[in-house]
Amino acid sequence: MMVEQLARNGKGNGTKEGADLYYPSADVVERAQVKDWNALADFSSKDPMGFWAARAEELGWYQKWDSVLDDSGKPFYKWFVGGKTNIVHNAIDRHLHTHRKNKLAFIWQGEDGAERSMSYFSLNREVSKFANVLKALGVRKGDRVTIYMGRVMELPIAMLACAKIGAIHSVVYGGFSVEALHSRIEDSQSRVLITCDGAFLNGKVVELKGIVDEALKRTAAVETVVVYRRTGKPVHMEEGRDYWWHELMALPIASPKCETEKMDAEDPLFLLYTSGTTGTPKALVHTHGGYSVGIYATFKYVFDITDEDRYWCAADPGWITGHSYIVYAPLMTGTTSVIYEGAPTYPYPDRWWRIVEKYGVTILYTAPTAIRGLMRFGEAWPNRCDLSSLRLLGSVGEPINPEAWRWYYKNIGKDRCPIMDTWWQTETGMFMITPTPVVPLKPGSGTRPFFTLRAEVLDDHGRTAAPNEEGFLVLTTPWPAMARTVYKDPDRYVSTYWTKYPGKYFTGDSARVDEDGYFWIIGRVDDVIKVSGYRLGTAEVESALVSHPAVAEAAAIGLPHEIKGNAIHTYVILRSGFEPTEKLAEELRQHVGVELGPIAKPEKIEFVAKLPKTRSGKIMRRVLRARALGMPEGDISTIED
Ligand code: WT7
Repeated sequence: MMVEQLARNGKGNGTKEGADLYYPSADVVERAQVKDWNALADFSSKDPMGFWAARAEELGWYQKWDSVLDDSGKPFYKWFVGGKTNIVHNAIDRHLHTHRKNKLAFIWQGEDGAERSMSYFSLNREVSKFANVLKALGVRKGDRVTIYMGRVMELPIAMLACAKIGAIHSVVYGGFSVEALHSRIEDSQSRVLITCDGAFLNGKVVELKGIVDEALKRTAAVETVVVYRRTGKPVHMEEGRDYWWHELMALPIASPKCETEKMDAEDPLFLLYTSGTTGTPKALVHTHGGYSVGIYATFKYVFDITDEDRYWCAADPGWITGHSYIVYAPLMTGTTSVIYEGAPTYPYPDRWWRIVEKYGVTILYTAPTAIRGLMRFGEAWPNRCDLSSLRLLGSVGEPINPEAWRWYYKNIGKDRCPIMDTWWQTETGMFMITPTPVVPLKPGSGTRPFFTLRAEVLDDHGRTAAPNEEGFLVLTTPWPAMARTVYKDPDRYVSTYWTKYPGKYFTGDSARVDEDGYFWIIGRVDDVIKVSGYRLGTAEVESALVSHPAVAEAAAIGLPHEIKGNAIHTYVILRSGFEPTEKLAEELRQHVGVELGPIAKPEKIEFVAKLPKTRSGKIMRRVLRARALGMPEGDISTIED
């Protein structure tokens, strides 16, 4: 068909041809590492293991693997079995013997205007020093370390220091709050916690250390807290438990020489908690070997990375996007990355565009919610900045609506920068459905699965949905960066992802495939709500509400929101003796903010006398949603009352 043909020939001039297809310009095709998408797709699908082995060969190993994939224990797949490596060996160590030694690894911009940059040489020094500090604090290979920080350079440094000595990091997003932090510490049983005194956001200070102190009242797991000073505002320091980062780093224990631990390919690198259908958030486990290979290959091909690039992923390192594509993959490819600490609109709505201009950013990777938020302020803001350094844009986190896509393409990319709409998950570790720069684009579609991968849309009975018919998105081939399990709960891994369609990975998303084979993600089909691209579980919001003395029962649902994509709406049954007032509703919103985090604050709280439930007592959120949207309620034969 046409799409294939044009991609193959690399025709097109960057303008829109025909209905809703955007072709890459000759320049884009010229510099692309993969000029012929179809040829590589064909070749790699015939020999997927050959494709991944070749990518792995591009990285450094202490010892080569015996087999690329071991699927004997599926769905517990193993990759690069027998291989020995450490992601830090590829992210830092290897560059120290090349021209990249003095290249910038990070350029950091504080919200308050502070600026820092760090070469690979200096990054190695800081990481080695902090790795030795961790060792002195008793951290050993396999120990979990929780990291709860603002967006400072010490966050990647702390992650890399853990990885270097074989400790398992568990980063908790700095926008989470007391209970979210506590439950993640408790589950991982981290004895060491690394945090900041506070973080700058929107001209205000988020008091991270205060949140830590509250969370630690609820658990005895943590013995030592390391506090990085960012804001300088006074904080409580618990004698014998809390230590300043800068003081530890000035001690003789913080020697700049530290050997990188040789890890098995399958050894865990990190835990990352994410919300699911039920109960508490679960930690996905990612490894040193396969994860490295997967994120490296996808980053290289999708963003067409070269040594000249200045790459900026505006997400937070605390999410999988940041782990894979702020910290690890950019460093593995020797890229210079920008990290910005604060809010996109502080002090003015052109802050991001000023950063692009100032540092000559060539690739900007962000989320639809941010684009919609900035769109609101109009194109005069970006138009006043020189955005000519940009050559590629990216989108992630939720479906991008075509209107936002076109605005981004026109006003930021100036009609010349292809948009890489990357669909993936905490669980997948790496991009799964994504174009590469030469693939013709349709606004709102992530196009097709990455090389070697296969995805399908199925109906309830496991039959392939017809073109354009909505169904469940599944992945039918294993990939190297796949999460290996749910930490301490392999049964949950199997039941959540591998049971609905045995042998196939269930994504939790609904989607459709169009007549050209392009995938269109529709949304979550489980009790996960994507608020501004952040993933939250209805169960988490509900238990935060129920932890307030006034609340007997609560239900949370997601409803469409113009900027956030979805917003949280809640229904609350009060305990007797409490009056449903506006003041109480506000108090409950604040309470959710304190327990879970500001992002989880409900948009709306409605007091009700009853909730629709099944006879077995499960809240029928589907019915609440349908009612709120004025849509048919569907099958309610199982409703109790
Ligand atoms: C869920 C995973 C992967 C990094 C950030 C999110 C949604 C993600 C897209 C996209 C449509 C997307 C899906 C997915 N999602 N990227 N490009 N188009 N939807 O990771 O927090 O684990 O969330 O985000 O619903 O299942 P996450």
